[in-house]
Amino acid sequence: MSNELEKQLEEIKQKCQTCTKCGLCKTRTNTVFSGGTANNKLMLIGEAPGYYEDQQGIPFVGKAGQLLDKILGCVGLTREKDIYICNTIKCRPPNNRDPLLEEKLACREYLDAQIEILKPRIILLCGKVAVNSMLNTTQGITKLRGKWFEGPNYCKMMPIFHPSYLLRNDSREKGSPKWLMWQDIKEVKKVYDMLE
Ligand code: URA
Repeated sequence: MSNELEKQLEEIKQKCQTCTKCGLCKTRTNTVFSGGTANNKLMLIGEAPGYYEDQQGIPFVGKAGQLLDKILGCVGLTREKDIYICNTIKCRPPNNRDPLLEEKLACREYLDAQIEILKPRIILLCGKVAVNSMLNTTQGITKLRGKWFEGPNYCKMMPIFHPSYLLRNDSREKGSPKWLMWQDIKEVKKVYDMLE
């Protein structure tokens, strides 16, 4: 990534760190802007920071995050080299409740800026909050997961299950959420490998 783009991302991050556009600024410990590596190939958008993310200022570092790393690792993808990770909203909602519409709207400018600066070729929409924010549909994630949709700058977007959903569903049998995730991540890697 060029120095200029890195500078632009850093500017947005600084702005986000002092943001007071919604009530979550009063209860956050840290804003959680991004993790992984800034690149123009692969971005993942999750829901919102949880307890550990709020404490550390890094996305997906709790149990769900550890599972996410494991899933990515199964196809050879790592945070350090391959993927930029962010969330629909950048501050933790109290008790991990779903983000409110006003919070999503207030925070949208940061997500839009991340997408515009990086122009990722693939965006993974991890869980229903990210799906609802990026796709104009009322369909549930079970119907949408594993399918490709056109996203900003003609990128490819795929809804995938949230790892916290997989943590609640232990089966690995054919057709189970874990099995479906495995199919989806293999498909993502196939398309990723075709990018120049
Ligand atoms: N769940 C999310 O959606 N994002 C995080 O950063 C952590 C847990």
